[in-house]
Amino acid sequence: MEKSTFDISSLLREHIRTMTPYSSARDEFEEVSDDFIFLDANENPFGTATGEKYNRYPDPYQRAVKEKLSKVKHVPTENIFLGNGSDEPIDLLFRAFVESGKDNVIILPPTYGMYQVSAALNNVELRKVSLTKSLDIDTEEVLNTIDQHTKLIFVCSPNNPTGNSVSVDRIEHLLNNFNGIVVVDEAYIDFSDQESFSQKLDQYPNLVVLQTFSKAWGMAGLRLGMMFASKEIIRVFNIIKPPYNINQLTQEKALECLDNEDKVKEMVSVLISERERLKDELSSLPRVKSIYPSDANFLLIQVEDANNDYDRLIKSNVVIRNRANVLLCDEGLRISIGTKEENNKFIEAFKAL
Ligand SMILES: Cc1ncc(COP(=O)(O)O)c(C=O)c1O
Repeated sequence: MEKSTFDISSLLREHIRTMTPYSSARDEFEEVSDDFIFLDANENPFGTATGEKYNRYPDPYQRAVKEKLSKVKHVPTENIFLGNGSDEPIDLLFRAFVESGKDNVIILPPTYGMYQVSAALNNVELRKVSLTKSLDIDTEEVLNTIDQHTKLIFVCSPNNPTGNSVSVDRIEHLLNNFNGIVVVDEAYIDFSDQESFSQKLDQYPNLVVLQTFSKAWGMAGLRLGMMFASKEIIRVFNIIKPPYNINQLTQEKALECLDNEDKVKEMVSVLISERERLKDELSSLPRVKSIYPSDANFLLIQVEDANNDYDRLIKSNVVIRNRANVLLCDEGLRISIGTKEENNKFIEAFKAL
């Protein structure tokens, strides 16, 4: 694709192109000074019943969080969108770009389930191009599957549920040869040595990168996802998102976490060494037929009878993810890496099956 031919407004759905955003009370005042009284948003002036101060609407654009995040991720603030989990930008990608009954999107199974759910929710045609046997992108098949109505291609790397990273060259091949948007979902990038695609935004106007605070950052319960993209795409997302999509508590906790990046790095390094230890232990067990390479905080293993092992582990109070019937994951079990003690308990229960 010649970059000059990429035009975001021609990709947008017609009604999104011309949409006027909701103008919230908090949109209108960026600088808050103590001299002002705020009687504009129908809030409760006294405070919260818990004695805390969650009575005011949060910053709709999460400016303080983006400032800090920008430094940590080396991405300018105007290229950052924050969502209620990364599931929110996934859904907004459909709403912004994909017209029901006309457009289609491509996913590369086995992959993260929400792309398909969002396609179904938005009543959009989904085209599936299986990963190759070596779990990489079948670029030729993907390019053959694209037509003039293909708007999005979802690439998950490191991939869930297999755990491997797909090759950078192949993702770039898609970016160079597809006139729609390539979404690179990097939910597990912190557990990998790969450089993030967020550092390539200048090169590819059709690139969207997703990351999340739910995995390495330990904030799954607070729901905060990141999207990195061109200024033009971020501008559209700020128009179509719910005005206060990131609550005050989540913004505060994200700021605290961003001040503690060292702690995150420490947890990640323990999880990676536990992953490698678990891999070694499992590879010595005859009931394990194979272990998929993993750049993530989980391992996918292949056993003789996954359904049986899964059920019996539950009886020992160990819950893992059964992927037995998933394409290219035959008899697969996905195990999240826990603490050392949790991993030992899993190994013990697994050995006792
Ligand atoms: C590949 C991938 N993307 C996105 C998500 C969703 O993350 P979030 O918690 O930010 O919505 C997950 C969650 O498991 C995931 O595996």
